Amino acid sequence: MKLLLLLSALWVSPIFSQSDWWQTGQFYQIYPRSFKDSNGDGIGDLNGIREKLPHLKDIGMTAAWLSPIYKSPMKDFGYDISDFKAIQPEYGTMADFEALLKRAKELGIKLIMDLVPNHTSDLHEWFQKSVNRVKGYEDFYIWHDGYPDPKNSSNRLPPNNWVSNF
Ligand SMILES: *[C@@H]1O[C@H](CO)[C@@H](O)[C@H](O)[C@H]1NC(C)=O
Ligand SMILES: *[C@@H]1O[C@H](CO)[C@@H](O)[C@H](O)[C@H]1NC(C)=O
Repeated sequence: MKLLLLLSALWVSPIFSQSDWWQTGQFYQIYPRSFKDSNGDGIGDLNGIREKLPHLKDIGMTAAWLSPIYKSPMKDFGYDISDFKAIQPEYGTMADFEALLKRAKELGIKLIMDLVPNHTSDLHEWFQKSVNRVKGYEDFYIWHDGYPDPKNSSNRLPPNNWVSNF
């Protein structure tokens, strides 16, 4: 009987008492590029997001998840990050980001950053150092020559058969 009670306590607790804000919150994903343009350049930006935060509050959101806003050459619309510590200029400045964060805090809305750690842009400092074999950076990326293409001797095939699924 004791075991049974313990088990039921374990089952019940995550639902009724242990829930963290992220387990019960309402999330709104913002794609900054198209969400709200505040300066008329045709591209959404951080100030536009800040302007619309009260609306998210009104519709009951507790958190906003931002698709990547980091510095990027935009070959993959921001998922190709060239500097994880800088804001892409067309979205605004670090000061704009800090203002957005401040407003979100005032409204009690959590801001979730979209971190993409599994690859970088080829323009990222680490990639440039790694491709140029700067000491200490050689293994920051996986380097492989690829396999000979049996159908085309001047071509190389990717080193694995991994597919990208969305
Ligand atoms: C890297 O992570 C992102 C975000 O989870 C994912 O969409 C993408 O497919 C991943 N890319 C690779 C090459 O693993
Ligand atoms: C063979 O591969 C090379 C390098 O990728 C490419 O430039 C060329 O067009 C290919 N030839 C054919 C016939 O597909």
